[in-house]
Amino acid sequence: MTSLNQIRSTFIDFFKVRDHLVVPSAPLVPQDDPTLMFVNAGMVPFKNYFVGAATPPAPRAVSSQKCVRAGGKHNDLDNVGYTARHHTFFEMLGNFSFGDYFKEGAIESAWTLITKEFGLSKDKLLVTVFHTDEEAANLWKKIAGFSDDRIIRIATADNFWSMGDTGPCGPCSEIFIDQGPELAGGPPGSPDEDGDRFLEFWNLVFMQFERFEDGTERPLPKPQIDTGMGLERMAAIMQGVKSNYETDLFRTLIAASEDATGVKAEGAATPS
Ligand code: ALA
Repeated sequence: MTSLNQIRSTFIDFFKVRDHLVVPSAPLVPQDDPTLMFVNAGMVPFKNYFVGAATPPAPRAVSSQKCVRAGGKHNDLDNVGYTARHHTFFEMLGNFSFGDYFKEGAIESAWTLITKEFGLSKDKLLVTVFHTDEEAANLWKKIAGFSDDRIIRIATADNFWSMGDTGPCGPCSEIFIDQGPELAGGPPGSPDEDGDRFLEFWNLVFMQFERFEDGTERPLPKPQIDTGMGLERMAAIMQGVKSNYETDLFRTLIAASEDATGVKAEGAATPS
């Protein structure tokens, strides 16, 4: 079995050998950002690099960032307990380009990592792109060999990522795996998209704008890349389970809480 820790290392090492600076996770409470209570994405500690307000220490970076999504623009709280894939605290694996490579480099490395290193089957994978982003659609055709039916064009904010009401933003392309018809749910963009069958596990954001309080946007000094892979979701995929709560990480946590409380996870008292 591929452990969650091995998945994190594989991701970090893959980008490290591709000249990305390995950056440790920042604390959950942003240090210099009054717009957020908690870090909600891997790019948050790099916000000033994206908008050109600070100089990055390297043109490329990779991290596994602790995140909380329990309020604000990215709020998973209401999904917890209803899906197999949401929990408000998680780790986001990400590779970042601060004006270095752009769409082609991001898609090429994502495709190589998931199909060659993680060994995912192309037949189960599909992607979304922002509806006007023909460039991304064409790159997916060229790099992954996808036909049009595997590239779903989405016109909503689901495929235009922003950190919050203000800050860097841009169109994005999400990678999904079809976990099979035994799970409920439809493909992205369909009425049943919230089911667990089609699992989004990696979002590639093509950062191109900075949004301000009055709703206006300006182009960033250079186009940039921000990606986010859900570590716990990738662990579920690699471990062949259909719920994050069945991964090695959660099984260990649940067993430890049973030991500490003397109460079974299902609620029945453990015999003493
Ligand atoms: N910042 C992007 C996200 O959180 C990658 O989905």
